[in-house]
Amino acid sequence: MIQIAPSLLAANFARLQEEVVEIEQAGADLLHLDVMDGRFVPNISFGPLVIDAIRPHTKLPFDVHLMIEEPEKYIGDFHKAGANSISVHQEACRHLHRTIYQIKELGIRAGVVLNPSTSIETIRPVLTDLDYVLIMTINPGFGGQKLIPSMLQKITSFAHMIQEAGQNIKIQVDGGVNTHTVAEVARSGATNLVAGSAVFGREDRAAAISELRAAAETGYKKRLVK
Ligand code: DX5
Ligand code: ZN
Repeated sequence: MIQIAPSLLAANFARLQEEVVEIEQAGADLLHLDVMDGRFVPNISFGPLVIDAIRPHTKLPFDVHLMIEEPEKYIGDFHKAGANSISVHQEACRHLHRTIYQIKELGIRAGVVLNPSTSIETIRPVLTDLDYVLIMTINPGFGGQKLIPSMLQKITSFAHMIQEAGQNIKIQVDGGVNTHTVAEVARSGATNLVAGSAVFGREDRAAAISELRAAAETGYKKRLVK
C-alpha cells in the first residue's frame, strides 16, 4: 500500500539510462519526474524529450509532476512521452476542472498539487474528479530542502477531508522525505512518497528504498485518520 517514488531530479543526468534501470531493480514503485519551466518555479529541469528518451529503458510507471505555467498546453506532449500519471499545480491552473479532465481523457491518472501556502479547501470542489493529490512539503523548485513541519497537519486535515467525502484519493507527498521524516509523513496519512536525495543521493539505492518503505509502513500503521 505504501509506494516509493524516487525523483529523477536527484539522479546523475550524465547517465540517466543506467540510473532508471538501477532504480527499477532497487525496488522503486514509480519514477517521479519533476518538470520545471523557470517561470512557475525558479529552476529549469527537463521536458518531454528527456522523458521520451528514458521511456524504453524501464517498465516503471512515469509520474510526471508539472511545475510549469499553462500546463494545459503541454499535457498531450507528456502523455506521448510516456506519462502514466500527470499532476498539475492548483496555482498554475485557471480552469482546474478542465485541465483535470484533459488528463483523464487521455486514460491516465490525474493529480493536483498544492504548494505549502495553498489551502486544501481550494480543491474541495474537484475532489470527486481526482485520482491523487500531491501535498508539497517544501516550496517547489529544488531538491534537497528540509520538510516544513507544519505540512504534517495539512496532510492529516486532507486525510480527514477525503474520509468525510468518502473519496478514494491517494495522498502523495513531495519534499524533504527521508528516513528521519517518512514515518511522520505516513502517520499523517500519505501513502505515495516521493524521495529525491534520500534515494539517488545514496550509494545503495535498494537499501534506501527498503528503509524508507519500512519506516513508512510503521508510520502508516499508526495513522491518525483511519
Ligand atoms: C521539488 C521536486 C521534488 C524534489 C524532491 O520541486 O518536486 O520532487 O525532487 O527532492 P528531495 O526529496 O531531495 O526533497
Ligand atoms: Zn516533485
